[in-house]
Amino acid sequence: MVGILEEHLEYLSTTGRHALFARALGQVVQPGDVVADLGCGFGVLGFQSLAAGADRVFGIDQTAAIEIARETARRSGLEDRYTCLHSSTFKAELPEKADVLVCDHVGYFGIDYGIIAMLQDARQRMLKPDGAVVPQHLDLNVAAVSSEACHDLATAWSRAPVPAEYAWLDTYAANSRHEFEFAPDDLCSAPARIGRVRLDEDNPDLLEFNSELVITQPGMMHGIAGWFDCELAEGVWMTNSPLEKDAINRSQAFFPLAKPLDLEAGNRIGVSMRIDHKAQLFTWTIQPGNGGEAQTMSTWKSTILSAADLAKGAE
Ligand SMILES: C[S@@+](CC[C@H](N)C(=O)[O-])C[C@H]1O[C@@H](n2cnc3c(N)ncnc32)[C@H](O)[C@@H]1O
Repeated sequence: MVGILEEHLEYLSTTGRHALFARALGQVVQPGDVVADLGCGFGVLGFQSLAAGADRVFGIDQTAAIEIARETARRSGLEDRYTCLHSSTFKAELPEKADVLVCDHVGYFGIDYGIIAMLQDARQRMLKPDGAVVPQHLDLNVAAVSSEACHDLATAWSRAPVPAEYAWLDTYAANSRHEFEFAPDDLCSAPARIGRVRLDEDNPDLLEFNSELVITQPGMMHGIAGWFDCELAEGVWMTNSPLEKDAINRSQAFFPLAKPLDLEAGNRIGVSMRIDHKAQLFTWTIQPGNGGEAQTMSTWKSTILSAADLAKGAE
């Protein structure tokens, strides 16, 4: 239970987030609406929907967080209007269709916490034909990173005091998506928008994005940073950009380079990403523009599989 309290204290202490969701919900929710609060946690977005005029909210969470939402609703005198369902959203059945779906499943890189699959399923099963979703769409941004602290994340297994027999796990660390809080100085290229995802329509399981980065600071490139600009409702944007002073205080994603590159200002770097958002598998390829060796990293290569898993895959 302590884990859940800590986790949700972090969400509920995120500066800037609640004011943005309140604005978005104020714009989208109409008096009398039914709202589904997907992955509701402690229920904050559902309570905001009620404040925005919703008649009733269905809060759905698959963890014990739902009990905190239930008790908070009771203490606030909202238990008749906030109904709690302890379930995965993929299994929950609502007694009626919703006018609005809301969630904050935006993760660090926008699509790295399963928001596409969650909203796709809920739109098909829970939403009225003319219903709305909050958030509406995501822009995904990347920049080259020069940061010893990031390099340390990708080489953590080969450094003392980790016993030497685990050094081979550096391969896993280099093929992992890490959480990191970037400062503007950690970025050694201009940022680029690599992709845009609409959340109010279906998306393919496999997303492919390409972009080019231009190096602005000479030195070692250790990987790429990824973050989101998320349009909650028309004109209401939430971002975790390390370059934006009004960003919410949420970490960004770091995608390492297995072999860091020594670069000069003006060098061009191709970045390709293939993302299986349902399986949450991320593959990123970094191609130096001077014809140097391309490097492909993938979270598939850091997935821990047992012999039994492999045998199952071969069936
Ligand atoms: C990022 S937190 C957001 C909580 C709350 N909506 C907020 O904005 O503070 C995500 C919540 O979704 C829940 N969750 C994740 N996947 C879920 C799913 N498929 N079905 C139900 N709950 C889910 C987690 O247990 C967690 O409480």
